[in-house]
Amino acid sequence: MEALECIKGRRSIRDFEDKPVDRALINEIIGAAAYAPSWKNTQVTRYLVIDDKAKIAEIAKDYTTCFSYNGNTIGKAPVLIAVTALKGRSGVEKDGSFTTKREGNWLMFDAGCATQTLCLAAYEKGLGTVIMGIFDDGLSAHLQIPEDRELVCLVCLGYPAVAPEAPKRKSVEELVTFAE
Ligand SMILES: Cc1cc2nc3c(=O)[nH]c(=O)nc-3n(C[C@H](O)[C@H](O)[C@H](O)COP(=O)(O)O)c2cc1C
Repeated sequence: MEALECIKGRRSIRDFEDKPVDRALINEIIGAAAYAPSWKNTQVTRYLVIDDKAKIAEIAKDYTTCFSYNGNTIGKAPVLIAVTALKGRSGVEKDGSFTTKREGNWLMFDAGCATQTLCLAAYEKGLGTVIMGIFDDGLSAHLQIPEDRELVCLVCLGYPAVAPEAPKRKSVEELVTFAE
């Protein structure tokens, strides 16, 4: 698949076939995400893969009470990936000082680059994904995410049961200004 075709064709998928995803394929996709750029190549993003139906159903039921729409999507996904990132490295110097005024927030940027790369690699492999930023506060503890990591987002992964149209995009004219 051509890169631009992959970038433009990827959609957020919120309904999946009831079909498991091979763990070797999940590893392959995460292996591709490892090639995403990161702050000074710190590679802080880590992935907790949940492919047990009962565990996914529990998260869908108990940890999306703030936004049950996400619970509905998670409940249909054969795989849920908790994207986490190691704290205190991205944007942080060896002596612990912050490199820029954004302090340690570069962690979010790195995890975002990695997550989009994961979604594109999944699409290339015929899989659908949706990134989720809305879930209940207690999920990190429930998943036993270590204290030195931040739970950044969730990604549902599976074989798509739908083929949605692309939500409208802004025109290039709206997005771009060339400096005079
Ligand atoms: C940081 C981030 C958080 C998101 N959170 C959610 C979410 O909680 N639930 C959801 O259904 N979609 C979520 N999305 C998906 C967006 O709604 C989706 O990317 C957008 O509508 C564009 O659609 P497309 O991905 O099909 O191009 C999120 C996307 C990003 C990048």
